[in-house]
Amino acid sequence: MEIIVTPNYEEMSKTSAKIIANEIRRKHDLVLGLATGDTPVGTYEELVKIHKEEGLDFSKISSFNLDEYVGLAPLHKNSYNYFMHDNFFKHININMANVYVPQGNTNDPEEFSRWYELQIKRVGGIDLQILGIGGDGHIAFNEPGSSFASRTRVKALYKQTIEDNSRFFSSMEEVPRFAITMGIGTILEARKILLIANGKKKADVVASFIEGPVTSQITATALQLHTHVTVVLDQDAASKLTRTEYYNWVRDNKHMVHKSVGR
Ligand code: F6R
Repeated sequence: MEIIVTPNYEEMSKTSAKIIANEIRRKHDLVLGLATGDTPVGTYEELVKIHKEEGLDFSKISSFNLDEYVGLAPLHKNSYNYFMHDNFFKHININMANVYVPQGNTNDPEEFSRWYELQIKRVGGIDLQILGIGGDGHIAFNEPGSSFASRTRVKALYKQTIEDNSRFFSSMEEVPRFAITMGIGTILEARKILLIANGKKKADVVASFIEGPVTSQITATALQLHTHVTVVLDQDAASKLTRTEYYNWVRDNKHMVHKSVGR
């Protein structure tokens, strides 16, 4: 794992956007895995800026979103589909035929989940998966206890997640209890993974997922089993890490260690 600690949210967003932009420049038909939530909003803003100012071309890329609330139609204001259009897709030159977001209002979530996995396979797998991390340590909506072998499926949301998500709804009763989510097994098959996190409220869970033992109770720890994970943090989210000096040394001396140091 490569840990990059940045001074603040703005720098976290810029750094992560640069990493994504470089991957798109390297491979024009990149397959991107995308996350929603507060954390990546700044990253999407930066990518839109790079698209507008430097002509970053999204026309050949495909994208697969991690998750969607069960029961919400794609145009519902609180759906992740709506979020993606509003924050990202409508500002760039992505071909909407290559955009995939789980369909929350499908009549058959099981069949849909199988189909979603097949679409990911059909395009050759995800090249770069963007992730946030939940307060309970989830990646996508793989809540505590999710199997590390899990695939796209319906998952019941954990109490803490329902509470965290309630800020977007007018009452607790309206917050969906289920989501269709890629599984940990699906995520671990991505060739590269970029996790971003900011803010003091993520500090404990960030320290557990990077420096703690691998456990299905904090599903982000599964990323310790992946060979190419980059984590971009702001200072606050990194504040409970114990080996920051080492991570910073590696970050600043990457040109020396690039070939010889494993992630
Ligand atoms: C969203 C997703 C979730 C979020 C996580 C953090 O697509 O998969 O795992 O990344 O809940 O959310 P924020 O960024 O709002 O703190």
